[in-house]
Amino acid sequence: MRVAVLTGAGISAESGIPTFRDEGGLWKNLDPKVLATPTAFERNPALVWEWYLQRRSIIAKAKPNAGHLGLVELEQELGENFFLITQNVDGLHQRAGSRRLVELHGNIWKVKCLSCDASYEDYSTESAQLPPRCRECGGLIRPAVVWFGEPLPADALETAYRWAQNCDLFVCIGTSGEVYPAAHLPYVAKEAGAQVVEINPKETKLSPLADLCIREPATKGVQELLKMI
Ligand code: OAD
Repeated sequence: MRVAVLTGAGISAESGIPTFRDEGGLWKNLDPKVLATPTAFERNPALVWEWYLQRRSIIAKAKPNAGHLGLVELEQELGENFFLITQNVDGLHQRAGSRRLVELHGNIWKVKCLSCDASYEDYSTESAQLPPRCRECGGLIRPAVVWFGEPLPADALETAYRWAQNCDLFVCIGTSGEVYPAAHLPYVAKEAGAQVVEINPKETKLSPLADLCIREPATKGVQELLKMI
């Protein structure tokens, strides 16, 4: 059986990382359109960086939970018949041990230069002045995440669509299904004949599409999924 999994912020909620749209989520007291856009960065790069540094410090303290670890178990069991598509930028899936994955919205620990296209992994901004500058050319450094109005990384998106089109089971975990094109993937999978499972304590836009809704938090829901597969 070929299994594709799409994760969103909800899978990291039990690791202490706020989601975007829930009560107390990241978007509630900060307008994302003000911070997570290319225009906002042009206008005030230091402010945008402050926000990302705050998120980095929350993520740095967080540990992968039983949801992330359960998906590693599934990957080890299914090998090439498993693939993980994440919208999260926190890197917790990799820290848990997932290897067969794409990050549709980038990664908060990676940065890129706006002037020379240099990119850096695990770029530390702790001692840097804000906004940080490129070591190669002195240009402005930005987080390598996808902002509103920007296209997703083409390779990652293509891989995600390929899995959606060619899997037997498509599992959505901890995503509201509000943000496209990621939210389109379960529809593609269903159309191609896959069974769709949702793991989410709450109903979402994707619930009507799902053949099975596991109304549990990710830590418990993924364990149930493991028992089923
Ligand atoms: P949202 O904040 O939109 O949705 C989080 C979902 O997680 C909700 O449906 C919650 O019910 C669910 N949830 C909360 N706690 C959970 C738990 N313990 N276990 C399982 N589910 C839980 O987050 P996303 O769908 O990831 O994009 O948002 C999609 C994109 O919107 C993000 O990647 C981000 C944002 O704009 C970019 O930054 C480009």
